[in-house]
Amino acid sequence: MELGLEGKSVVITGGTRGIGLASASAFLEEGASVVIAARKDDELAATKERLSGKGRVLTFRFDALDYRSFYDLADYAASALGTIDVWVNNVGASHPKSSGDEYTEDDLRWTEAMCFESAVHGAQAAFRYMKDHGGAIVNISSLAARVGTAGRSTIYGPLKAAVRLLSANQAAEYAAYGIRVNCVMPGFTMTETVQRSVSDSDKALVEERTLIRRMARPEEIAYPIVFLSSDKASYITGAALEVSGGRDIVLNPMYSYEKSGLL
Ligand SMILES: NC(=O)c1ccc[n+]([C@@H]2O[C@H](COP(=O)([O-])OP(=O)(O)OC[C@H]3O[C@@H](n4cnc5c(N)ncnc54)[C@H](OP(=O)(O)O)[C@@H]3O)[C@@H](O)[C@H]2O)c1
Repeated sequence: MELGLEGKSVVITGGTRGIGLASASAFLEEGASVVIAARKDDELAATKERLSGKGRVLTFRFDALDYRSFYDLADYAASALGTIDVWVNNVGASHPKSSGDEYTEDDLRWTEAMCFESAVHGAQAAFRYMKDHGGAIVNISSLAARVGTAGRSTIYGPLKAAVRLLSANQAAEYAAYGIRVNCVMPGFTMTETVQRSVSDSDKALVEERTLIRRMARPEEIAYPIVFLSSDKASYITGAALEVSGGRDIVLNPMYSYEKSGLL
């Protein structure tokens, strides 16, 4: 299926690792040009080198905790690539303290900026360059927006739920300009960051409660992001696509495995 992304200009926040990196790679495979934004110069340079054989990759150093960075990123991408067609608000993270510790005001501000405000400023920055010709924005939410997890997602989950509703509101605000806004809700995804912190009990829980009995590979989140950004998703806007392998959708997820004797 031809996705129609050849020659399109794509911006991905937080694109040097994990889901952002896998998305950058997938967009390049479709012939798009990609601007990857993150904080660390060395990782930006290494990512550029790693991906440049696949197509046109540019990098931009930015910090999601400084809202002005989003507008600088948009200015840079539009001047380097001529315009912006696709913007992926991928940056986001749960606070390292997210295991039941007491949150300070600074911790809360940090989590809000990373998980929610990044999607507000990212979309507003993209809109400046999309409003004349249309485009697609994809916000990365989380399975934690649908199912609560005390401790790890006490603050992160509600903010990701806000991103889900924000996406619908942005879709409504930008519809008249030919801009579609959608949201992807990944389940547990085996990024390098997750690999470092995941416990055996996390893995066992994923196995027990997910229809596809494993964590996602980053590219399995990237492909839905690329599809939603493409012309083939031209009638999809304001949608939230959960990509969780069927995690916590029924009370007896192992039913077919047990019945078939395949467990
Ligand atoms: N992995 C999962 O299991 C999972 C599940 C559900 C949802 N998600 C969501 O998916 C998105 C991507 O997660 P991921 O696990 O792929 O992340 P990741 O592997 O930890 O990568 C994070 C990326 O963001 C950049 N970054 C971090 N802090 C930044 C900041 N302050 N300013 C600019 N860039 C920053 C990092 O580069 P630098 O450090 O160089 O800045 C890196 O490129 C996030 O929104 C996350 O909440 C992930």
